[in-house]
Amino acid sequence: MKNKILVTGGAGYIGTHTCIALHEAGYEIVVYDNLSNSSREAINRVSTLIGQPIEFIEGDIRDAESLKQVFLSHHFFGVIHFAGLKAVGESVAKPLMYYNNNVSGTITLLEIMAKFNVKNLVFSSSATVYGDPESLPIDENSPRSCTNPYGQSKLTVEHILEDLAVSDDSWNLIPLRYFNPVGAHPSGQIGEDPNDIPNNLMPYISQVAVGKLAKLNIFGNDYQTIDGTGVRDFIHVTDLAQGHVAALNYLERQVAPVGFLPINLGTGKGTSVLELVTAFSKVSGQPIPYQFADRRAGDIASCYASADKAKNLLEWQAKLSITEMCQDSWRWQSMNPNGYTVT
Ligand code: NAD
Ligand code: WQD
Repeated sequence: MKNKILVTGGAGYIGTHTCIALHEAGYEIVVYDNLSNSSREAINRVSTLIGQPIEFIEGDIRDAESLKQVFLSHHFFGVIHFAGLKAVGESVAKPLMYYNNNVSGTITLLEIMAKFNVKNLVFSSSATVYGDPESLPIDENSPRSCTNPYGQSKLTVEHILEDLAVSDDSWNLIPLRYFNPVGAHPSGQIGEDPNDIPNNLMPYISQVAVGKLAKLNIFGNDYQTIDGTGVRDFIHVTDLAQGHVAALNYLERQVAPVGFLPINLGTGKGTSVLELVTAFSKVSGQPIPYQFADRRAGDIASCYASADKAKNLLEWQAKLSITEMCQDSWRWQSMNPNGYTVT
């Protein structure tokens, strides 16, 4: 058995897929989640997929006493920290809730880690920290800036991690900057389960395909891109999950602390909104009715990663294609039209 890992937010979309990848790689896992944006059913399904119960603790990262109990009961090699709120629009309406959850929660977690001398952290950052990029592809040294509280919360945590690494050189702090995670586990048993009408493109397309939503609004067709629609670096969530395993493996290999080490997780390829719609329609055999609408406030034209650092340092690269991303999203959506809610 390999090292034990605490997975905060492990009941969520990326967390569940990562738990499976960690288990397959031989890590022991403990999931800590307050279920504010997830469900026990997701944990049950992960347990079924890995063929054994998951150790799950319902708790909030802002609850220092509860976290302390978890660290007293387990000896962790490190923490993968997914727990946080992620809806950009909601963060504009409720900035204090976002800073409280994402920034204060992370500070509480870091304080407990310091107390128990657990100094390895893999943090869910985001390509959103690059704002409107000056050049493409975006590498890790690109300037960072954010225009909404969600993005600002991720950037603030990155700054905190940088300061922490300067203050004490025994920390290993890897913010993984995800591009656009999509897709689902190939079993069709776990996937993204938005509470409400989806904000993000892939779940919206999936719900149009399955007949839950009438038509997709494509936000803008006058960008300077291949077909005028926005271009993003969509990455399959199981590739992303493997990126976390690669980051832990990397930390296990190190003989000296790495300090603050940000790494992009993307494919390095851009795909337009229209290209994704076409690919999804082909894979699912369903029409995806759409109409062009105004640009969405805060959106950028194009965003895709330089994936070289992950390849060179972590020996990881994304493998799955847009077709596979659409196939797996569609399998999850069509097998679970109401997500984890059993009706
Ligand atoms: P998710 O909402 O599915 O998962 C987050 C999990 O954290 C949920 O299970 C939720 O219940 C839990 N959580 C939230 N606040 C908590 C708290 N205070 N204490 C304990 N648990 C808490 O989201 P996801 O898509 O799996 O994203 C995981 C992480 O990756 C988030 O930090 C998100 O900001 C980041 N991220 C996501 C994307 C994306 O497009 N999905 C892109 C870049 C970064
Ligand atoms: C992708 C493209 C839209 C919905 C967001 C967050 C980012 C990160 C990932 C967490 C854009 C277009 C979308 C729709 C559309 N999350 N679109 N119609 O905005 O690149 O990134 O999720 O860290 O922080 O901002 O992803 O999926 O919302 O949009 O035309 O109904 O699809 O305009 O061009 P985005 P997205």
